Amino acid sequence: MKKVRIGVLVSGRGSNLQAVIDNIELGLLAAEIAVVISDQADAYSLERAKNHNIPAVHISAKGYKGKRDAYDALLVQELQKRGVELVCLAGFMRIITPVLIAAFPHRILNIHPSLLPAFPGLHVQKKALEHGVKFSGCTVHFVDEGMDTGPIIIQAVVPILDNDTEESLSTRILQQEHKIYSRAIQLFAEGRLKVESNRVSVIGGLTESNAFLINP
Ligand code: GAR
Repeated sequence: MKKVRIGVLVSGRGSNLQAVIDNIELGLLAAEIAVVISDQADAYSLERAKNHNIPAVHISAKGYKGKRDAYDALLVQELQKRGVELVCLAGFMRIITPVLIAAFPHRILNIHPSLLPAFPGLHVQKKALEHGVKFSGCTVHFVDEGMDTGPIIIQAVVPILDNDTEESLSTRILQQEHKIYSRAIQLFAEGRLKVESNRVSVIGGLTESNAFLINP
């Protein structure tokens, strides 16, 4: 099967990036990472990429305050130069602009640690605990022009326990993120994601093993 060439945009530690790398190396994911791009020079994600001989590029946002379009044009240039077909945001802490979205229509994915549309933005586990919701989780979605919006591809549900802290909840959600991001990328690679207005359906349907409702 043809491998989809992905570009991963990161800002920090890169545990989701690592999960994708590991699943590719295990032969579970028909993808190759063409480039990892960070807006932060000291992002540990860049080390992770280098450790696996993946091109790691820092594109500084210095001098681009109020010029998001110009910054995103740099991203587009780098991604296109590397032949990227699918862009994966993995803890990329910048708001992206129509410049990037127009260059990769329905070809940008994001992972977010809540059951969207609940709790977009930052500090989401804290918000979930404050609201007293009984379930949270994570979402992989196509990116549109909003913040943490866009057609939802796959979600995993994580029950919230009475003694949960922000940290314990984040840890359990992250374990599920590491599974569903690769699953969504694989469905994309297989050409099985059909987007109609705001709904994504999976051609061939979801089987029990890729439905990812409540995960053990
Ligand atoms: C992940 O929890 C991801 O869902 C979140 O940042 C973290 C990055 O962790 N992304 C967002 O909140 C996007 N709005 P990682 O660097 O270890 O993958």
